[in-house]
Amino acid sequence: NQIYTDGVFGRKPKVPTNFEALERAARRKMSAKAWAYVAGGAGDGGTMRSNRTALERWAIVPRMLRDVSERSLETELFGQRLPAPVLFSPVGAGALAYPDADIHIGRAAAQLGIPYIFSSQGSASMEDTAAAMDEVTPGAPRWYQLYWSTDEDLVDSFLQRAEKSGAAAIVVTLDTTMLGWRPQDLNLGSLPFAQGLGINQYTSDERFISIVRDRIAAALPREKPAITVGAVKSLISMARHAPGSAVRNLVSPVPRESVQTFLEIYSRPSLNWTDIAGLRDRTSLPIVLKGILHPDDALQAVDHGVDGILVSNHGGRQVDGAISSIDALVDVAKAVDGRSKVLLDSGIRGGADVFKALALGADAVCVGRPHMYGLALDGADGARDVVANIIAELDLTLGLSGHTSTADLTPAALKKVT
Ligand code: FNR
Repeated sequence: NQIYTDGVFGRKPKVPTNFEALERAARRKMSAKAWAYVAGGAGDGGTMRSNRTALERWAIVPRMLRDVSERSLETELFGQRLPAPVLFSPVGAGALAYPDADIHIGRAAAQLGIPYIFSSQGSASMEDTAAAMDEVTPGAPRWYQLYWSTDEDLVDSFLQRAEKSGAAAIVVTLDTTMLGWRPQDLNLGSLPFAQGLGINQYTSDERFISIVRDRIAAALPREKPAITVGAVKSLISMARHAPGSAVRNLVSPVPRESVQTFLEIYSRPSLNWTDIAGLRDRTSLPIVLKGILHPDDALQAVDHGVDGILVSNHGGRQVDGAISSIDALVDVAKAVDGRSKVLLDSGIRGGADVFKALALGADAVCVGRPHMYGLALDGADGARDVVANIIAELDLTLGLSGHTSTADLTPAALKKVT
């Protein structure tokens, strides 16, 4: 409504209201490295493109004369009522695009009342992000995304911190046991994590600090006094906040060791179904598996009693030439047949895309790059406006297509046009 009223009075919105213009504006604003990291995909971008072309192969077939004056986008996920079936995807190293990215995305999500999924590779600790959200709306919904570390104590520490931070679900990302082949970053010699970006979830963790401490202690000659966890913590904090290069040089072994440790332990390629089976005993929160694309994996997930499946190809950032998220959704939804929640991300750009995903069996969708572009352009307000616009377009698409509730959408609302 607001956006129409503004338009009537000739006020231009701060963030463009369609994805192409948004992307162009964000590109102008972002550094080359930030752009490469956020906009880039795996290989030559085939998966990213098919996320879009697959959505375009489904057409909405509007129905008329159905009284659409009252509409509802409300949905319930894991006991939380949400105003719309839309979430903020987890994004790592967001500080490349905007300082303290997660704090601002968290505020945006809290203003809209929809969940932000904290990334394991966030640019702020989950505690700080949760506190920022609570300042906007106490108890605003949030979930936590886990990259399964090679250090099991660190996994437990993350799970406990997520519970304490008020996360309503644990999202385990399965598709990034190793980082994908990302030429845009590689060609610029740019790996955000090597710049110490996106490792705050780790440097704010007692277990992680003690691993770093042990590694530094092991590298010191025997007769040097033992280095304490507290010392490592304050050195990390000094390195982060110190403006002067003198302090940085003094404490540089600690950040260097932190980044090295992070790169070595952030994710475990040996991850398998036995780990998922054991996860139930390690957290009381609902478990969502992110990155499921094959219907047989979806069936296994259901057999393991997971609460949700997030159909995703990581926004086309991991395997080039992979199945599109929407094509995967069709088979996954059929296999799951209502036995767990099904979510989707990768390629959602506007309200019509959300409509199609819901009609094809998703209970909700997540949005990644669009909110990052809004963030780059106008911080928390930008991230909020981008997602608010997607929700507004969803509401209009719903009504104009002859439907009154997103929860009631079925494939009958669409036609495959190939
Ligand atoms: C991501 N994604 C991601 N996923 C995850 O599980 N943990 C993470 O830390 C990140 N980090 C990340 C950073 C950036 C810059 C992007 C763009 C994406 C993937 C993300 O959660 C989501 O799956 C995709 O972004 C969805 O696709 P779209 O909406 O970007 O097309």
